Amino acid sequence: MGMKNHLRLHVNIDHVATVRQARRAYEPSLGAAASLCEVAGADGITVHLRSDRRHIQDDDVRLLRGLVTTHLNVEMAATDEMVDIAIALRPDTVTLVPESPDEITTEGGLDVVTHRARTEAAVRRLVDDGLDVSIFIEPDADQIDASAAIGAHQIELCTARYAVLTEAPRGVAVHHATRLTEIAAETARHSDASRRAAAAGLRVAAGHGLTYLNVAPIAAIGEMEELNIGHNIIARAILVGLDSALREMRSAIERSRS
Ligand code: PXP
Repeated sequence: MGMKNHLRLHVNIDHVATVRQARRAYEPSLGAAASLCEVAGADGITVHLRSDRRHIQDDDVRLLRGLVTTHLNVEMAATDEMVDIAIALRPDTVTLVPESPDEITTEGGLDVVTHRARTEAAVRRLVDDGLDVSIFIEPDADQIDASAAIGAHQIELCTARYAVLTEAPRGVAVHHATRLTEIAAETARHSDASRRAAAAGLRVAAGHGLTYLNVAPIAAIGEMEELNIGHNIIARAILVGLDSALREMRSAIERSRS
């Protein structure tokens, strides 16, 4: 098997803002974190401007737009407020994600099939303004086809379900062979979805819950062009520093691509 195309690693730095907001203080600096990620070889920086502003603030995205020289991906809900912000801010990619007020983190992909009219209206405004649009979806054929039909440029496959399957079970007996079969089936869903999306002319990304230990099978998918990873890198960075944390993730990805 030869070397596949370079897989871009975009680092989600929301948790840096989470730590800052815990004290409503000025540190840690989001700008410093973004620059350190870029120096350590990140291909892009991702942030989620939530409607409730629980971590990333409007000033943060403005600062990052001026600072990030690689690629700035801003995740947001498909609302008029957020589309207005994106059009003024001009991130390199806008990723539409679902949001519910009580969630701890994004819980799954955007249901483009059910919310097609609303999503299409947001995509149309963004695309008409010349912005690059990605939609965070479950790895289902219907979601991919709907995303292509409404004019998205990219889809980001939600790996949350895959990630949960790869977690070490705590206090429950799980038959090992059964678990491996489930993980293989979920990985196959992602590779089938990637192939379908690429055939429809969509760029393919993935993310949510990816870690040093579970990233390899997802990174090995040939059509995969970009991964968005946050929690695991920032958690590791608290212990070993951002630079080391990022380089460890990069080598986990590169091993699976060669
Ligand atoms: N992609 C999307 C669309 C997300 O909403 C998130 C979490 O904010 C991620 C990727 C990163 O997930 P994690 O922090 O679990 O790596």
